Amino acid sequence: MPRYSDQLINEVISENDIVDYVSQFVRLKSNGRDYVGLCPFHKEKSPSFHVSRDKQVFHCFGCGAGGGLMQFVMRIEGLDFTEALKLLADRAGIVLPEEGDIRDDKKYRQKQRIFEINKIAARFFYDVLTKTDEGKVGLSYLYKRGITPKTIISYGLGYAPQSYDALLGAMRKKGYSDNELADAGVIVKHDSKVYDRFNGRVMFPIIDLRGNVLGFGGRIISDSPLPSGKKPAKYLNTSNTPVFDKGRNLFSLNLAKKSNERRMILCEGYMDVISVYQAGIPNIVATLGTAFTENQAKLLSKYCDEILLCYDSDDAGKAATRRAIEIINSIGAKARVIEMKDAKDPDEYIRTNGAQMFKNLMDEAPSSSEYLIKNARKNFNLDSEDGKIGYVSKAVESLVNIRDSIEVDAYIKKIAKESEISVDAIYAEYKKKVAVQKTYNNAPIRKVPAPAPTQIKKPAATRLEAAELRLLGLCLSDKKICRKVSNEIPAEEYMTDILQKIAAWIYEKWEQDEQPDAGTLINTMPPEEAETASQILCIDDQYDSKENAAEQLILSIKKDKIELLLAGETNPAKIAELIKMRDKLGRK
Ligand code: UTP
Ligand code: MN
Repeated sequence: MPRYSDQLINEVISENDIVDYVSQFVRLKSNGRDYVGLCPFHKEKSPSFHVSRDKQVFHCFGCGAGGGLMQFVMRIEGLDFTEALKLLADRAGIVLPEEGDIRDDKKYRQKQRIFEINKIAARFFYDVLTKTDEGKVGLSYLYKRGITPKTIISYGLGYAPQSYDALLGAMRKKGYSDNELADAGVIVKHDSKVYDRFNGRVMFPIIDLRGNVLGFGGRIISDSPLPSGKKPAKYLNTSNTPVFDKGRNLFSLNLAKKSNERRMILCEGYMDVISVYQAGIPNIVATLGTAFTENQAKLLSKYCDEILLCYDSDDAGKAATRRAIEIINSIGAKARVIEMKDAKDPDEYIRTNGAQMFKNLMDEAPSSSEYLIKNARKNFNLDSEDGKIGYVSKAVESLVNIRDSIEVDAYIKKIAKESEISVDAIYAEYKKKVAVQKTYNNAPIRKVPAPAPTQIKKPAATRLEAAELRLLGLCLSDKKICRKVSNEIPAEEYMTDILQKIAAWIYEKWEQDEQPDAGTLINTMPPEEAETASQILCIDDQYDSKENAAEQLILSIKKDKIELLLAGETNPAKIAELIKMRDKLGRK
């Protein structure tokens, strides 16, 4: 069972929506208050797979699969509870405490301590930059690059003085141990000596969505070699620490998120972000000196509909663009590419051409497919047969992720024209590539594991169980009905352990005057319980009178039970008694 608190689990789940999530795999059609589609867990031709947005549950009346968002994620992604929770937390931009933290208080406290240290260090660097003589070189460097005092405040920029123990001394005075400071990554230990990790650098604090300082990037401002004679790295970043993972965070996402823009620009450098932000375009983030990861793509796409890639215009930037497109497409998100001419990076571009020109580039940015096709064309000689064939193959590859068939059609026509290969042949090639990509007949947008036929299970076997399920559905929705039902049928008399457990829970909730919120609870249930609960929640009976329906169900359940007892009874006296009971019920 999960070690996370129910509150945290609920927070993560409620920040996601089951209909949105399921839609990645199943084409859902609205059907009254529910959505229906073809079940992704077994093969079927007519839809028995129900999803309810109100209740945030799913249930397949064909194979019995069911539960809340958690069960869906676990099953379709093949994850365990903790992994599924992590995935959903990432989607919601919620940072979960690391696994083990809950039990391991020490680790949790260590992280809090590192956040504290980082915040104090950021304050220290800021004060040095803005208030001391030592900081003047840093300040004039930033001014020279066009950074304004307002931007310095927005980003909390700072300066690490040219010293090996300035921060160390200040932090020691505040009572932090050398070990703690090393854990936070602000000092380094070497040959039993300790010194400041950053010196003579302009400092960029990296801040998460909750305002925690995770770490720093620092840019050297002088070219003079180190005492060792080596040239210092242009940028030095905090190495990975218990709170800082370069592959899981993005620079300036905290500010970009506030813009509420539906497009987010992704670039390479801290200075790019700051420059573009200062020019009045706040929806921009950067990676942290490492390659863009799937994790970062998921995090970013949570806050936008489209990612606009704006990497440096050199060959490395182009290669990184292609890789980023692959990653973004693989998670089902959309990318465009901002192409800058006569500028090596966004910082340089915006300083020479201004914000309006940059905004034009954003608006003109070709979709990732367009971009790839255009680039494929550059790499082949269209005057030769081989070149044409190579180009078509490469170009078609970039179409398989487009969802809009009209768009695909337009591209194919264009490719045909350029290559002088027939539309039909190109279309056939396209279909082949799509078939490879989409292995599932239901054309889900993302790949799903092939359904295992052994998973198919009959829905509620007996009439009795089916009636009990319906009755519990009524109990869930109505306190008065529940009180009546609980008097007539005690929880321990339901047919299965699971039904007994669910009945007891519903009865108890109403008894305590609380609405039984099964949609929330279902997420932490074991699979079989969740399947039963989702069935109860998804039965969409329309009753003229719920009271009458409940009464009918109680009656039929009681009669069926007597029949069951009669079938197994041999004692004549008991049989006579049961028949009497049955007749009495019959008269009702
Ligand atoms: P760039 O070399 O493109 O630098 O590195 P830049 O952003 O244009 O920097 P300026 O304009 O010269 O100040 C892009 C990013 O790569 C990482 C940093 O995160 C930087 O922002 N990087 C670069 C490093 O981590 N280390 C380095 O030595 C250089
Ligand atoms: Mn630059």
